[in-house]
Amino acid sequence: MNNLVVFFALSLLVYVSHAIELDFCVGDTTLPRGPQGYACKDPANVTTDDFVFTGFRGERTTTNMFRYNVTLAFVNQFPALNGLGISMARLDFGVGGVIPVHSHRTSEIITVIRGSIIAGFIDASNTAYYRRLEVGDVMIFPQSMLHFQINVGTTPATAIVSLNGANPAVQFTMDSLFAGNLPANIAEQITLLSNEEVTRMRRSFDNA
Ligand SMILES: *[C@@H]1O[C@H](CO)[C@@H](O)[C@H](O)[C@H]1NC(C)=O
Ligand SMILES: *[C@@H]1O[C@H](CO)[C@@H](O)[C@H](O)[C@H]1NC(C)=O
Repeated sequence: MNNLVVFFALSLLVYVSHAIELDFCVGDTTLPRGPQGYACKDPANVTTDDFVFTGFRGERTTTNMFRYNVTLAFVNQFPALNGLGISMARLDFGVGGVIPVHSHRTSEIITVIRGSIIAGFIDASNTAYYRRLEVGDVMIFPQSMLHFQINVGTTPATAIVSLNGANPAVQFTMDSLFAGNLPANIAEQITLLSNEEVTRMRRSFDNA
């Protein structure tokens, strides 16, 4: 698995280089973030360690309601991504695990490295594009499209994704509707769900 991760990371470096006036700008995450990202850490204090992320090592447990575990390598976890318009994440699925429908500000490209999943997205015309992916398969979810993944194999599954933004965000549709501060009566009105259904969804997603 590690070789695949390294290969994938290297193959994406060709997209890099929004940093026109600087070779790099490792983010100083102790300072506030502006619309362009973080201010740069003093280059005199930057070392190789800043450019290496070891957070994808090891096994994952999948104990939440949906049996998934996501490890982000976004700018907050990996500040060297600051300003480079690129990030990654590791997705782990228990047997039957699902990543519920969600979106990012960016596009996402996924590579399956263990197991077998159905991955898909839904476009603005409500057309769903989905496919069972096996190890080595790659699929792209275009920018900001709603998308999802389901482990359909008989073993745990793992995928690596890359996104063309350092801070792409993860917005889970159901959490936005039922786990945030949106009042239940508004959730009912804008979804046509009944009061009982909204109550059930709020109970489920609050603890998801
Ligand atoms: C850089 O590192 C030196 C030595 O550790 C430290 O004294 C200094 O405050 C650091 N500079 C910044 C801007 O963090
Ligand atoms: C993800 O896996 C790690 C390592 O096993 C574990 O510490 C963490 O609690 C897991 N997170 C979820 C949401 O299951």
